[in-house]
Amino acid sequence: MARGLPAVIGKRILLVVGGGIAAYKACELVRLIRGAGGEVTCVLTEGGSQFVTAMSLAALSGNPVHTTLWDLKDEAEIGHIQLSRSADLVVVCPATADLMARMAAGVADDLATTLLLATDKRVLAVPAMNVKMWEHAATRRNVATLRADGVEVLDPDIGDMACGETGPGRLPEPPAVLAAIQRLLGVGHGPLAGRHVLVTAGPTHEPIDPVRYIANRSSGRQGFAIAEAAARAGARVTLVAGPVALDTPAGVTRVNVETARDMAAAVEAALPADVAVMVAAVADWRSADAAPLKLKKDGSGQVPALELAENPDILATLCASPRRPALVVGFAAETHDVLAHAVAKRARKGADWIVANDVSGDVMGGSHNAIHIVTAAGTEALPEAPKDRVAELLVERIVDALA
Ligand code: CTP
Repeated sequence: MARGLPAVIGKRILLVVGGGIAAYKACELVRLIRGAGGEVTCVLTEGGSQFVTAMSLAALSGNPVHTTLWDLKDEAEIGHIQLSRSADLVVVCPATADLMARMAAGVADDLATTLLLATDKRVLAVPAMNVKMWEHAATRRNVATLRADGVEVLDPDIGDMACGETGPGRLPEPPAVLAAIQRLLGVGHGPLAGRHVLVTAGPTHEPIDPVRYIANRSSGRQGFAIAEAAARAGARVTLVAGPVALDTPAGVTRVNVETARDMAAAVEAALPADVAVMVAAVADWRSADAAPLKLKKDGSGQVPALELAENPDILATLCASPRRPALVVGFAAETHDVLAHAVAKRARKGADWIVANDVSGDVMGGSHNAIHIVTAAGTEALPEAPKDRVAELLVERIVDALA
């Protein structure tokens, strides 16, 4: 079982596998659900069978795989109505643009769509498709219809896709899908169950031209550790991550971004949240106008002047927003006068807490951290510890503050 994730023991999942390259991740999802004590029965669409075989899903799930409405044996022994209702939850993963369009329209022309129309259970759709297809007005409409009908449609991850394009459309990682399943089954537990925690992490990259960017040394590790600790405490976690080479923690929904402006938009889109922990080392400045073509030396020895523009302050904007989370925690990475700067930063940004860390050593990118938590009540010093221990201690403080 994925570390720290609560079990789905004895719960039955009917998994509809649609036709997309992300179908291979459905195999991993089957493994995760079973590892967490759940039972899985798979329905494979015709498109899905182009990407994974019924044999693989049968072997992984330990159950027969259903592929057609017209299997007399199944109709006699199970029947599609019964199949759709014997589950505790129906999960469509991957949910292609076509499958969601047919669901939204109430079409029932194959086993998958018939089950989806006949079920009396909650339905979770996990989309995966090309970015243009996800952003198309028709898909936006269908997703809105499905959500209005009570279908839980996850947002796809943002990032590089099999088709070579980048943007929203990637299937969320299987642990994040499992976390959504647990949430819908109401089996999530822990002191933050039912809470939404938003975390930003990592650096941002601000393009100078297509091949160069402004960045900083943030590894993202402290933010990822906080996201993981919050998920372990039972929270639904959205992790808005700058470009870092870290795996998504189990049970966390990750949104990948490049620039500060992307990060600001992703934070806004993730609201409402109960808690925001802004750990990202957001670039203060970006190139005022990034060159569309690579800047070249002209041989004269003249260096280009880089004009900078200030990035939006995501933390301050969030604190001033009408949708401000009840608890907003900022980080302050300082090389000198750490506490004085943190106290001033707390007031300036309007955050409830500022977590101050001294980055004069090798903290940025390193494995340990020593922090001070600056609140309205004063300052608490935590001893130097590995970043995941620091994350646990901070999450304990968050649990206490919400209690
Ligand atoms: N932050 C943010 N958006 C920015 C800059 C910072 O959300 N454009 C957040 C960080 O995620 C962190 C906090 O604000 O939680 C403090 O970041 P820091 O870089 O230390 O603060 P700055 O405002 O940039 O102050 P300075 O660089 O002058 O110390």
